[in-house]
Amino acid sequence: MHSSITIVGASLAGVRAAEALRSEGFKGNIKLLGDEAHIAYDRPPLSKSFLEGEMTSEKLSLLTTEKINELELEIRIDSRVSSLDIESRTLEVKGGVEEFDALIIATGARARKLPNTEKISGIHTLRSLDDSIKIRDSFKSGNPKVVVVGGGFIGCEVAATASALGIEVTIVESQEVPLSHVLGEEAGKVISELHTNNGVQLKCGVEVQEIRGDSQVEGVLLGDGTLLEADLVIVGIGAVPNTEWLENSGLTIENGVCCDQTCLAAPNIVAAGDVARWYHRGYGKSIRLEHWDNAAEQGKHAALRLLQTEAEAQPYAPIPWFWSDQFDRKIQLAGISDPEDDFEVIVDSPEEGRYTAIYGNEGRLKAVLGINRPRHVMQFKSLMENKASWKEALDFAREIK
Ligand code: NAI
Repeated sequence: MHSSITIVGASLAGVRAAEALRSEGFKGNIKLLGDEAHIAYDRPPLSKSFLEGEMTSEKLSLLTTEKINELELEIRIDSRVSSLDIESRTLEVKGGVEEFDALIIATGARARKLPNTEKISGIHTLRSLDDSIKIRDSFKSGNPKVVVVGGGFIGCEVAATASALGIEVTIVESQEVPLSHVLGEEAGKVISELHTNNGVQLKCGVEVQEIRGDSQVEGVLLGDGTLLEADLVIVGIGAVPNTEWLENSGLTIENGVCCDQTCLAAPNIVAAGDVARWYHRGYGKSIRLEHWDNAAEQGKHAALRLLQTEAEAQPYAPIPWFWSDQFDRKIQLAGISDPEDDFEVIVDSPEEGRYTAIYGNEGRLKAVLGINRPRHVMQFKSLMENKASWKEALDFAREIK
């Protein structure tokens, strides 16, 4: 049994890992190292309710003082880990070298930035509490003209929040239809309409050519020659896993830390959350997910893996699931959808804001999309858990229509 377990990355996956170790009866030392200046906090509200301006940062906290004491955690914030040496079981941490018995890698991902824009103020990505505070302050100052670059989930959520606050906002998205790379064109159009009906301007099928402004952003020039005035630019063009510190460690890094089906990256080393790529037995391939629910579940699974023998270890093979709140709609997706999949709309009721569609491939149900239809999402998710065929899913759809 290990005498101490170190968790690198003090966000959701890391915190859930620490909780799981204690609830499983682990009595050794648990060290939680994070590079941010804040103690672990929850991120989903950062693009929604927190950004709207009503919520305090205390409400986001994942670890109260009582909880830290109850879990007997040794927490270190502002402690960036710069390298891992597997042989000597040491970590290079800001301020010194530290030993560990077993390690949980939960360093997440960071927002991708627009190149060559560091010197211009008024351009933000949205990933951390500090990012959200800066954007929130800018929303409050005067009546900013906002351009959101990237019509993915971050971009759509931020645009919805800004628009609901009465702020003029334009989304610039390089695909013809936002979210079509995940949801396919037809469902992507449903979300696009939600935005345009609520006053968000969409510029699709076009790239950013240049950011105008010397020290402060003034505009965004697009590839088709359009110049959008902007006081504030928010960039949501994807995320990059934080693996640089592991580059010379000997672990396999391929767009994430590669793990086996039980989340093990090397003996006594596991990975969880946005940084982890693992072999998902159900899909028969390695995947990496950037969802809140996965960080929570994989954090637990990976932590328990460290307490198990190889014979006891369980594969981690969940049906992925996430939600996104935009305007008054709760958009949920369970499973993994592909724009090329078979696609069937089950409910389409624009007046009520309700929509359900399913995705299938090779005769199997692969995913369900629900807008203000949580029950349908859970019903089809449970069919996926039971490996339902596409025909069974269509039969079920007929029953509930
Ligand atoms: P994303 O990958 O979902 O979307 C990025 C979008 O930017 C894509 O539509 C892409 O076509 C577009 N794009 C890329 N480069 C561009 C460019 N130069 N100009 C214009 N458009 C460009 O990434 P996003 O929205 O930044 O989110 C990061 C991660 O966080 C994602 O994995 C996302 O799923 C996750 N997330 C999850 C949420 C949820 O579960 N509710 C909410 C927000 C983010």
